[in-house]
Amino acid sequence: MTNNDYSIKKFTSKQLIITIAATALCGLIMVWASVIKYFVIGQPVNAGVWLCILTLALSFAVFLGGILLFAIVSRTFIIAHPKYYIAFMTVVTISFLAHLYLSILSPLMIAPGLTAMIIVQLSRQKQDALILNLMESVMVMWVLLLESIMTDGEVFMAIGGGNGTYMWLLAFITVINIGAGAAIPLVLKNKTRRINYIVLGGIIMLASEILYVLMSFIRPDSVTLLSYFWIVFVSGAIPLFAALVINPIMESAFNLVTDNRLAEWTDSRQPLLRRLATEAPGTYNHCLAVANFAEICATAIGEDPYLARAAAYYHDIGKLLNPSYFTENQSGYNPHDDILPEVSVEIIRKHSTDGYKLLKEYRLPEEIASVAIEHHGTSPIKVFYERAKGLTDGEVNIDDYRYHGRTPRSKISGIIMICDSSEAAIRAMDKPDGERVEKLLRAIIGDRIAQGQFDECKLSMLDLEVIRKTIISAFGGVFHQRVKYPGGEK
Ligand SMILES: [Fe+2]
Ligand SMILES: [Fe+2]
Repeated sequence: MTNNDYSIKKFTSKQLIITIAATALCGLIMVWASVIKYFVIGQPVNAGVWLCILTLALSFAVFLGGILLFAIVSRTFIIAHPKYYIAFMTVVTISFLAHLYLSILSPLMIAPGLTAMIIVQLSRQKQDALILNLMESVMVMWVLLLESIMTDGEVFMAIGGGNGTYMWLLAFITVINIGAGAAIPLVLKNKTRRINYIVLGGIIMLASEILYVLMSFIRPDSVTLLSYFWIVFVSGAIPLFAALVINPIMESAFNLVTDNRLAEWTDSRQPLLRRLATEAPGTYNHCLAVANFAEICATAIGEDPYLARAAAYYHDIGKLLNPSYFTENQSGYNPHDDILPEVSVEIIRKHSTDGYKLLKEYRLPEEIASVAIEHHGTSPIKVFYERAKGLTDGEVNIDDYRYHGRTPRSKISGIIMICDSSEAAIRAMDKPDGERVEKLLRAIIGDRIAQGQFDECKLSMLDLEVIRKTIISAFGGVFHQRVKYPGGEK
């Protein structure tokens, strides 16, 4: 996994308003949940409580404003794609509510790193888990501290007794909550095996217990505190199980691109991929070859290789509607020989828009579907343009022979545009060698630059150079020649 966004584009004012509204809504839910808790624990709602609510509202506005500022300054991607921001804020709110109400059972029921454990699997950038967990931990500490002041610590008398001990507990749970939130993204960075999550969960539980025992010995009433050893153990296991349940729900509800979902989408048992393999086997193999190029090119320029692979698998899915009209699925007969070039061009160019619609129908995310509509950009289909010119003495407008898609908006889309054309052109070569492939790639990339196809995807000249060199160094592995078998033709 890389630390780069799929696209560096800035957010619009509409997207910013959505994120501000989501932040405000989460703040309202949190403050009201804190108020309702006073009723739940039987605290009389007097003027002091209202003052407390006002304090909460103001301080939460500051904390949540901090989260929003963090996103605006260093995570423009989640503002430009508000589904991520809304998903993350939903996790923060769920985690806050869980902590708030579990603390009725015991203030030790703070699941360490709950927010981080969920977000680390939902976000492509690990700092999100760290920052959001930190903010949530501070908000929980703050609300419990205010609550303790309002109730003179009577809610927490059951454990240890008195506000003095409670302050220690509060400091303890905040330290392990923030500590676990920092450890989770650090330890799980680049780890995709589920066993890593379980091992880390076990370490956090153990660390919590050690810290708890140490704290118990520091306090004079340690014997009472030690009897609650098991609560710390139970709460340590909560993040693991909560992440297991909440993550798939969040991924599906918000249609997020995560490592888990990319693994699902690139599984050959996916209905669309199965259809492609059986109904358009030539296209299916072309997609696999493009994916091999796209993955290494994405790695070479610091983009997400797993997203590149998944997007390449589906880039030509629109060909499912007319597979026999595409060269790679033909064996002899070419139906374009019997139809007019203006009809041919219509069938061919439809595969980019049809693919986009099909992917949306199957609920694939915009990050993948957009590649289907962008991989040919608005370039002309020259073979039919030339054929049309050959059939008439008059003028033929080249714009009538262009794809009806749009130019790539992300670097991944740009990579797939290059890999797609390169794969097809190298395959069409009789005996591709380094020199000829290099010449071909220079021509393909130069042509796309001249047409302005990369103008909106932020691929720099250096990126294009790296992509070109990467394909040249890899094509031998993708289109390798086999040695002749003894007695065989090839
Ligand atoms: Fe295509
Ligand atoms: Fe293609």
